[in-house]
Amino acid sequence: MIISVLNIKGGVGKTTVATNLAVGIAKTGKSVLLIDTDTQGSAVSWRGEREDSDANVTVISLCSASALRKQIIGFRDGFDCIIIDGSPHVDALAAVSIAASELVILPVGPSPLDIWATSKMVYQIEDAQAINPEIKASFVINKFSKVTLLSKETKAVLQEFSIPVCENTLGTRVAYADTMTQGLTALEWHDRKAKEEVTAFINEILGLISWQQLSA
Ligand SMILES: Nc1ncnc2c1ncn2[C@@H]1O[C@H](COP(=O)(O)OP(=O)(O)OP(=O)(O)O)[C@@H](O)[C@H]1O
Ligand SMILES: [Mg+2]
Repeated sequence: MIISVLNIKGGVGKTTVATNLAVGIAKTGKSVLLIDTDTQGSAVSWRGEREDSDANVTVISLCSASALRKQIIGFRDGFDCIIIDGSPHVDALAAVSIAASELVILPVGPSPLDIWATSKMVYQIEDAQAINPEIKASFVINKFSKVTLLSKETKAVLQEFSIPVCENTLGTRVAYADTMTQGLTALEWHDRKAKEEVTAFINEILGLISWQQLSA
């Protein structure tokens, strides 16, 4: 199973979603390889802060489209699940990631700038789906706030695209930023609401691929 977390817009939560998903899937007993395709190396740095003893989440850096194309199939044989943490910069990498994926997750923030930038990626996914209709995709609204009108409107605007929107959203919470710098995830943190919402989101994703759910 290959899952990409992509968006050419920077800072929308790709690495946050990818790391939480990696740990969540590992908690269901699967081996997970997280491929950091961003030269900023955020996921690699996150793993560097994490306990060495955690053998279930391996993180590697692979920042070129040709390297990813050559190696991805070999990696698939070695792990139950591969999660690709996308780069905000390079289109060729995104194209290889989409083509290799069974599922593409598009985190998007509740802002018009995020949604406009996302539309380019949607067209890229639609092109890939025209060749391989098996590729699934889903938006997830990150940095959602119940109090802003914009957050409420984001879902309606995203529904105009062909790609479905996850029921579950991730709120703006310090837990996501605090855990990232410590090599942890909201699943391993004391903020109950963050843990509940990220568990619900991960279970929605696991449902999309018909995999065993993560217990609360
Ligand atoms: N739901 C959230 N609540 C609060 N902070 C968040 C949330 N999601 C992400 N952040 C913070 O926003 C910043 C950007 O998030 P992240 O690194 O996951 O985005 P990205 O899309 O991977 O960025 P880049 O394009 O630079 O790779 C980080 O500091 C992260 O901790
Ligand atoms: Mg990132």
